[in-house]
Amino acid sequence: MLAIIGGSGLSQLSNLDVASRRIARTPYGEPSSVLTFGRLGKEEAIFLARHGHQHTMPPHRVNYRANLWALRENGATHIVSVASVGGILAGLNPGDLIIPHQILDYTWGRASSFFEEEGTPVTHIDFTEPYDARLRQSLLDAAKMAGIPARDGGVYAATQGPRLETAAEINRLERDGAEIVGMTGMPEAALARELEIPYAMISLVANHAAGRNGSHHGIDFGQLETVLSEAMEKVRAMLARIALPREERNTHQAKGGEP
Ligand code: HPA
Repeated sequence: MLAIIGGSGLSQLSNLDVASRRIARTPYGEPSSVLTFGRLGKEEAIFLARHGHQHTMPPHRVNYRANLWALRENGATHIVSVASVGGILAGLNPGDLIIPHQILDYTWGRASSFFEEEGTPVTHIDFTEPYDARLRQSLLDAAKMAGIPARDGGVYAATQGPRLETAAEINRLERDGAEIVGMTGMPEAALARELEIPYAMISLVANHAAGRNGSHHGIDFGQLETVLSEAMEKVRAMLARIALPREERNTHQAKGGEP
């Protein structure tokens, strides 16, 4: 079953044909929101609001482990994350959609592994390609079908937040190779890999990153809300057309990497 983790601007999925809701509990605590079960186009789906339904949980306080565990326990076989980002790469504009292919992680102090309890054997996951190639392709195909432009690939930098970055920090991220910047991409992607669940992200450019183009003199939060609500309509249209890559369920790790 497809799971959608919705970020800022997507705390509910209005085109999900809701069948039921469930409060989940996990050994890691409670997930950010109730799980909503339903149907999205061709797929059965579960929806979870990353920041809570009232958008009250900041990126560094999200219980990523509980979220991922709850989704797996409730039948998620593929996870699509929807997250807003700042655009660093020249040419990216508010409203653009990107399916990133790589990650730089600048977060700290977040519970970022299921393999850190006392007595747990040391476990290193392969994370060379952090996003699942086949699920990325499903997203690109869905975008194409919906007639919505989506950029194939991007290097996502995960920052700690909740504050936005300084202009100098964005310059450093760019020197590191980052093309977009957000606050919630990690440890979510790594935890999905630990659970061997194919995971990919739809990033939605909400603003030019600090010090860039329209954000030379600061980031306009008023504009950010409008851009997000418009772009989320595109995300919804895309998600309604997604078809999961069936035959390769949960085989990512067993095969030791991408096909
Ligand atoms: N930086 C970090 N996270 C973000 C941004 C940004 O500019 N925009 C939306 N999420």
